[in-house]
Amino acid sequence: MDWDAYERDALRDFDTARDASGVSEVHVRYLGRRAALPLALREVRDRETGQLLNSLRERLEQGEHAASARVAREHVAQQIGSGGLDVTLPGTPFPRGRLHLVTQVRREIEDIFLGMGYEVWDGDEVSDVYHNFDALTTEPGHPSRSQSDTFYLDGDTVLRTHTSPDQIRAMESREPPIYIVCPGRCYRRDTPDATHSPTFLQIECLAVDRGITLADLQGTVLAFSRALFGPEREVRMRTSFFPFTEPSVEFDVTCFLCGGEGCTVCKHSGWIEMGGAGWVDPDVFRNVGYDPDVWAGFAFGFGIERIAMLRHGIPDLRMFWENDLRVLGQF
Ligand code: DAH
Repeated sequence: MDWDAYERDALRDFDTARDASGVSEVHVRYLGRRAALPLALREVRDRETGQLLNSLRERLEQGEHAASARVAREHVAQQIGSGGLDVTLPGTPFPRGRLHLVTQVRREIEDIFLGMGYEVWDGDEVSDVYHNFDALTTEPGHPSRSQSDTFYLDGDTVLRTHTSPDQIRAMESREPPIYIVCPGRCYRRDTPDATHSPTFLQIECLAVDRGITLADLQGTVLAFSRALFGPEREVRMRTSFFPFTEPSVEFDVTCFLCGGEGCTVCKHSGWIEMGGAGWVDPDVFRNVGYDPDVWAGFAFGFGIERIAMLRHGIPDLRMFWENDLRVLGQF
């Protein structure tokens, strides 16, 4: 028997076995009970041949061992490669929180005004009647003061019905020039519908300086609207009335849905109202001790949810507060 050739063939066959069953076939061929080597080992009579064949068997067993390890490794690698087990796959995702859309829009608005040199001022949600109405020259008989429009906590205390009392507090606490925006929650006895809610957010803006004109108001609102809604959106001013401004205007922007052609959202006008504004009434300046012959100013109060609706094409105010994550998760 040519044991050198036997060893060479056996080790080559172990080396080229493709898988576990290939390895066991090679085992049967060279190390199995009926293979030449084990048979010869059983017949051995002299010590020298015994040593020779035993060491040959050991080498073949080592070859088999190495082959088994190799095919096992190849098996795992092939499973990974074929998609059976992809260890690079990301783990099970879990939902992450994010800022509420209205908060995102409020911050966006604040950023725009900070960029124009304004300061953000925080007021109180609870106000005395003086700051919410009287200082803003809202006459005692004015309908907005009635129990049916306003939440009174007691005869002299209300949940603020707008952010305009913050104007008064800001002016009482410092000297002009003033450039502030006051975002905050307001309360009114309104029945909820697509555009009304008993609680909502407003952003008040107040600019007081020497030589301010109505063109500054218009330019500021235009710059703000373009920054928020994009340059294609148009803005218009309509005359209006507020007790604390003279003249008073309301600002509209072209409808987010139809782009100005008219649809049900804008009630076929092509425009959606953003909020009120005006030239600060001299009596308001007198109430805070400013000289109306020296100082001039403009102010406006816009609804933040309304702006968020315009900005993102949301048709119903109530969607903000239903907290349906399928809606909120989109922003
Ligand atoms: N406070 C008014 C409202 O809630 C909005 C408003 C109008 C604010 C004119 C102003 C202003 O600062 O000048 O409807």
